Amino acid sequence: TNRTFTMIKPDAVANGHIGNILAMITNAGFRIVSLKLTQLTVADAQAFYAVHAQRPFYGELVDFMSSGPIVAAILEKENAVADFRTLIGATNPAEAAEGTIRKLYATSMGENAVHGSDSDENAAIEGNFHFSGREQF
Ligand code: GTP
Ligand code: MG
Repeated sequence: TNRTFTMIKPDAVANGHIGNILAMITNAGFRIVSLKLTQLTVADAQAFYAVHAQRPFYGELVDFMSSGPIVAAILEKENAVADFRTLIGATNPAEAAEGTIRKLYATSMGENAVHGSDSDENAAIEGNFHFSGREQF
């Protein structure tokens, strides 16, 4: 098995979707390795999304991701990174497949309910950004 990292973003937390999203994740066969409610500082969000620093939406993304509490989690499953991206759906909820988390709970391209790591390497980096070794079960 391998691992991925996710955040339930401020929009989905504010809209009351934490429970439903966690249920979809566990029903899809992911084991929760780590889990917490937390909030990114502006500096945290800038660092987390540094790869997007040159993109036109970077400022908006950083402001949004630091605007309220998020749920951070490490998840484990066979083929975790790819299967989780299938479960969440396309970045733009208008293009997300039926039954995906973003189709159900995202409101826009920017406020799209959940994050999912895009590689095994980034999953490890992102998980370790949020959780100490003692918090990874
Ligand atoms: P993450 O799982 O959050 O990384 O999404 P992704 O991998 O599907 O998309 P990507 O890594 O390309 O972009 C990261 C995040 O930036 C997206 O999830 C959106 O929240 C945001 N984003 C991407 N494109 C746009 C855009 O055109 N406008 C705005 N406002 N936000 C965008
Ligand atoms: Mg991404």
